[in-house]
Amino acid sequence: MFVKTVLTAALLQTTSLVLAQDFVPLASQSFTYTNLPYQADANDGERGRQSGYNICNSTTENQHSLCQTAIINSVDDFCLWGAPEPNSLIGDTEGEAVAWCTKPGHGTRVMPAGTITGLTFVKTPDYIQVTGLINQANINIAADDSGGEMDPHGADQRGNPLGGLLFTNAWGGGMVQAVEWHNFMGEGAFCLKACDPSRPNAAHYCEHIFDRIGCWYNAPASYAEGVFESCQGESQDFPGIYTGTDGVVSTYTQPPEHLGPITTMPYLPKLPATSQCSQYSSSELFAGAPAAPTPVAGNSHGSTRAAAANSSQRTATGNAAALNRPSSSSSASPTGSPNAGMMGASVGNAGFVVGAFGVLAAALF
Ligand SMILES: *[C@@H]1O[C@H](CO)[C@@H](O)[C@H](O)[C@H]1NC(C)=O
Ligand SMILES: *[C@@H]1O[C@H](CO)[C@@H](O)[C@H](O)[C@H]1NC(C)=O
Repeated sequence: MFVKTVLTAALLQTTSLVLAQDFVPLASQSFTYTNLPYQADANDGERGRQSGYNICNSTTENQHSLCQTAIINSVDDFCLWGAPEPNSLIGDTEGEAVAWCTKPGHGTRVMPAGTITGLTFVKTPDYIQVTGLINQANINIAADDSGGEMDPHGADQRGNPLGGLLFTNAWGGGMVQAVEWHNFMGEGAFCLKACDPSRPNAAHYCEHIFDRIGCWYNAPASYAEGVFESCQGESQDFPGIYTGTDGVVSTYTQPPEHLGPITTMPYLPKLPATSQCSQYSSSELFAGAPAAPTPVAGNSHGSTRAAAANSSQRTATGNAAALNRPSSSSSASPTGSPNAGMMGASVGNAGFVVGAFGVLAAALF
């Protein structure tokens, strides 16, 4: 839920109670894909009105679309939450995020060619998930933004974005609302997980309270450059739950932002096994993508990568999307403090939090 407002969370919750007596949290509402309201969030309040709309069709399908109904169907058909205007920070625009999809047909913006440079779609017994690497400036996220989390919660329970909905046909029975989901964007990486509402632990797999520890901890996967694959897989451990070498199961507690950057983690997440992977090329998956826009100065594809690998450029906002990925794929040591390889040489006061994925990116390029 991106707790930039930890200190005011209690106040906001109070506000939302006062908001409207009939206020219902977004994640407590059911929507039917073929009968969506113009806006899922009809409320007003601290954060104003929903900025976009949920009825998305051929008239709303253009690169200025404010469609806030996202889709995650398959390896070549999904959307991520990006910003409406270029060069935005997730922390500033999470409430107004719009859907950017890999292909036309959903009434949304379409990711330009070359936006996604590596991706794994996985279907497990409990969720579907897409993870990978992205030229985030192509979907209007500032190239050097360490990013944050979007999900249907938020301190005021109106969702980020407000009224944002997610549907999939991957579970059969037509388009089904993924009530619980989370999408981390930033630092050149993305992860979107949609949890099957018919399964018992949807809210745990799509946990929304670990918004400062990024993709690697919330959606452990390979995040491999140049790999485009669709797999079956086992479900991960619940985000924040880990088993030590001694077999003891522990729950991580994320420190509040006012205590400063997260500089150490007590564990590395277990990488869940995948199987039956089908490999693709980028052009097979994204044939319908429009040409990339002319790069804005400081916002080109190249600088996205450079920025992701450049920890000195990042600020310690505490909303890193892709942090703490081990620099080697080998067995994570589940206890003890993070090793030097994960922390990199020059984390500075950006700390371990925002440095680790950059270390990996540097190794890859
Ligand atoms: C298309 O979507 C727009 C925006 O939500 C809506 O105003 C319009 O009524 C829709 N058109 C149809 C034919 O459903
Ligand atoms: C990294 O950031 C520093 C400080 O902003 C800058 O001087 C340097 O050129 C950057 N390097 C890359 C590869 O972007």
